[in-house]
Amino acid sequence: MSEQKVLFLDKPHGSFVVSSAPILKPGPGQISIKVHAAALNPIDWKIQAFNFYIKNYPAILGTDLAGDVEEIGEGVEGFSKGDKVFGQGFFGNEMAGFQQYALIPADLVGKIPSNISYAQAASIPSGYTTAAVGLLSAQPFGAGLNPTYDPKVNYTGESALIIGGSTANGQFAIQIFKYLGYSTIIAYASARHTDFLKSLGATHIIDRGETPIEMVAETVKKIALTPLKISYNALGDADSRSACFDSIVEGGQVVDVISEFKDAGNGKRVVTIMGSAHLPQNREFGRIMWKNVPGLVQDGVILPNRVEKLPGGLAGISEGLERLKAKKVSGEKLVAFPQETV
Ligand SMILES: NC(=O)c1ccc[n+]([C@@H]2O[C@H](COP(=O)([O-])OP(=O)(O)OC[C@H]3O[C@@H](n4cnc5c(N)ncnc54)[C@H](OP(=O)(O)O)[C@@H]3O)[C@@H](O)[C@H]2O)c1
Repeated sequence: MSEQKVLFLDKPHGSFVVSSAPILKPGPGQISIKVHAAALNPIDWKIQAFNFYIKNYPAILGTDLAGDVEEIGEGVEGFSKGDKVFGQGFFGNEMAGFQQYALIPADLVGKIPSNISYAQAASIPSGYTTAAVGLLSAQPFGAGLNPTYDPKVNYTGESALIIGGSTANGQFAIQIFKYLGYSTIIAYASARHTDFLKSLGATHIIDRGETPIEMVAETVKKIALTPLKISYNALGDADSRSACFDSIVEGGQVVDVISEFKDAGNGKRVVTIMGSAHLPQNREFGRIMWKNVPGLVQDGVILPNRVEKLPGGLAGISEGLERLKAKKVSGEKLVAFPQETV
């Protein structure tokens, strides 16, 4: 078999169409993965709508995948054909998730822990990487809270805020603060997610249905036992960013998924996350991160997102992206199954 099914975005601002393309052989250092589960992200519909990052069309998108090792490239050690693995896709067709076979650098791939499914595994790479690069990796690309996953690092007694706690990446930010030992972890989210976000590690929920975003900083100051040195904006919009700034002390850090804002004044620092381990500035941290992620998941320190399984194989992705765009996905990750494509 040398052909596979893929989902092409046919042209800039174009349509998603199921098509065929060759199955590529892994190059040195790469693994070919038979993709059983591929998760959807906002970036996928944003690329379709706004045409950025992608240079060549037709393009295959998708940055979250899980499946089986199909073939191993030269120099790769520690993996065998048939191993269950998960990893983050990247822009450029060979590394994308919305196809039946993808090539990923072996040092950015993890073995799927026995306690989670392919779909759950596919919910982890991009959301977790975003929060981990933003919070753990060294400055200036991250907040530098624990770039080496040193188990001795501990922030007990400290407080943190996450705006957008129920987003895919916000859920991982909550869990990373818990992993770091933060004593007070405040999430701004819908009240219906309270029990779920507390199960991930949030100690307090500020209900976004009750507290307008402009009141968040004031509310945080009443809750937190210690002044905040860090806040995390999982939404990226300007109002959330202001709330993040207003909640932290002078010299503190706002970690933000979208901001291009560099100088917050008052000595406050902004970390703009580029949540891909494939990027040169994140590559070394990415290697360390992927050595640690499977164990953290196996030990229950990091839980996957809750998943909703999409029907129809690759053909089901387009409708899922429309739902993401229309903000009709709440506290869950949509996951497609490329091998079910007819
Ligand atoms: N910089 C990077 O590398 C990077 C990486 C990943 C994502 N991002 C960006 O980060 C953003 C979030 O992505 P995602 O995939 O994590 O999100 P997502 O899971 O698609 O977000 C959906 C969630 O957002 C919550 N939400 C929406 N508006 C809210 C508000 N005003 N306050 C609090 N919660 C709100 C919704 O909660 P309700 O249930 O309350 O509606 C819902 O649960 C996107 O803009 C994405 O493009 C950037």
